[in-house]
Amino acid sequence: MSNPINLTNHCSVTEATDNTWPVYQPFVNAIHDKIHEKDVSGTGWIQDPLEQNSSVLFELNWLAEEIKAQADTLIVIGVGGSYNGTKALDQALSPYFKRTDIEIIYAGHQLSGAYLEQLLQHLEHKNPYIYVVSKSGTTLETSLTFRLLAQFMKTKYGQSYCERIIVATDGNSNPLRKIASDNHYRCVSIPIPIGGRYSLFTVVSLLPLAVVGIDIMELLKGASAASEQLSNSEIEHNLAYRYAILRHEYYKKGYHVELLASFEPCLTTLHEWWKQLFGESEGKQQKGLFPTSASYSTDLHSIGQFIQQGSPILFETILSFGQIEGDVVIPFDRNNGDQLNYLADRRFNEINCHAKEGVIRAHVDGGVPVIELTVNKLDAYHMGYLCYFFMKACAMSGCLLGVNPFDQPGVEHYKRKTLESLTNSVVHSMK
Ligand code: PA5
Repeated sequence: MSNPINLTNHCSVTEATDNTWPVYQPFVNAIHDKIHEKDVSGTGWIQDPLEQNSSVLFELNWLAEEIKAQADTLIVIGVGGSYNGTKALDQALSPYFKRTDIEIIYAGHQLSGAYLEQLLQHLEHKNPYIYVVSKSGTTLETSLTFRLLAQFMKTKYGQSYCERIIVATDGNSNPLRKIASDNHYRCVSIPIPIGGRYSLFTVVSLLPLAVVGIDIMELLKGASAASEQLSNSEIEHNLAYRYAILRHEYYKKGYHVELLASFEPCLTTLHEWWKQLFGESEGKQQKGLFPTSASYSTDLHSIGQFIQQGSPILFETILSFGQIEGDVVIPFDRNNGDQLNYLADRRFNEINCHAKEGVIRAHVDGGVPVIELTVNKLDAYHMGYLCYFFMKACAMSGCLLGVNPFDQPGVEHYKRKTLESLTNSVVHSMK
C-alpha cells in the first residue's frame, strides 16, 4: 500500500535526514516510550481511535439519526478543542454549497452579543437541537452561551425542550454535568485521558460530523491506520516523527514561525485546528514555533509578498492533495480577448497544481524553507489519517522542545484572570 502522506523537504538549510536521525533517535525512543505509556496524562488519544470508539458508535449513529429526523439546525456550543476539530472537518469534507437538510451553527466560541442576538433571531423560524461541548464544564464562553440558548429552547418548546439538548463533557463531576442531570439533558462522555485539542476522534466531533453526513467510519479507519503506521519509534519509518524533527531543526536555525498553507479553500478551518493544536501544545516556557496559516492562491495576492521576501522568520508547510473530487475544464473562447486560449481544455485543478509548483520554487528562491506534505486524496479516510499524523507529530515536537504538549497553563491563567475581572466588576457595581 502506498503511503497516505509523503513528505518532501524543499530546502538545503537542513536536510535532517540520514545525518541527523541517529543523533535524534535515542531522544525519540525515550519520548516515544513515554507518550505510549498508558497512564501518562493527556495521551489517551494515541490508542487506536477506531477501537476506542467501538462501544459508542452505535449510540452516536442512533443520536445522529434522531437529530436529522427532528431538527433542521444543530447548534454546536463550544470553544477551542471543543469545536475547532468539528468545524475543520465539517468544512473540509462537506460540499462548498451545502446540500444537506441540516446545518451546523457554531456558538460559544466567542462572546459577541451582536452574534448571539442575530442567532436568536435566526433561530425563531428554525427547529434546532443543541449540542453543548465542554470537557471541564466550566468554560465561560460555552457556559454563558448555553445558559442563553437553553432559555430560548425552553421558551420555544416548553417542558419537552430538554429532549433537544445533548451535553458532551468528561466523566468527572463538574457544573455542566450537574446541570445536565438536574434538567434531564442527555449526556455523552468525553474520555478523561483525552484533552480538548486532541479530542477530534471522540464524541466531541464524531456526533456533529455524523449529523451532517460525514462518513465517520472512514474517518476513524484513516485515523486507525495512522495510529498503527505511526506507532514505530524508528524515525526512518515514522513520518510524523520526521516532520517533528524537521520543524525542530528549522526552529533551532532561527525560523520561529511555521506557516501552514494549502490550495483548497475548504481547508481554512483545518488551518485553525492545526494552529490551536501546535500553538497550545508548544507555546510555553518562552519556547515554541508560532503557527500561522495562509490559503492559496487567495493569500498570494496579499501576505504572499511578505512570506516570500519579508523578514526571514518563517518556514512553510505546504499541504497538497493528489486527488480532489470535482473539477472543471477551461473553455475555448473564439475571441480570445484574455489571450488565454493556450490553456483551453485544461482543468482548473491542474492550473492550481502549477500554482503550487511555482509557489514552492519562488519561496525557496526567496530563502523560505518549504516542507511539502502530499496527501493521496481529500476524503474522510485521508483526513482522519492526516489529523492523527499532526497530533502524533505535535506530541513528539513538544517533547523535543522540552515542554508538556498536553497541558495549557496559559489558557487556564487567562480563564482565571477573566473570572477575577468579572467578580471584581460585580463587587464594584454593588458598592
Ligand atoms: O485544548 C484545550 O484543552 C482547550 O483549548 C479547550 O478545548 C478549551 O479551552 C475549551 O475547554 P472545555 O472543553 O473544557 O470547555
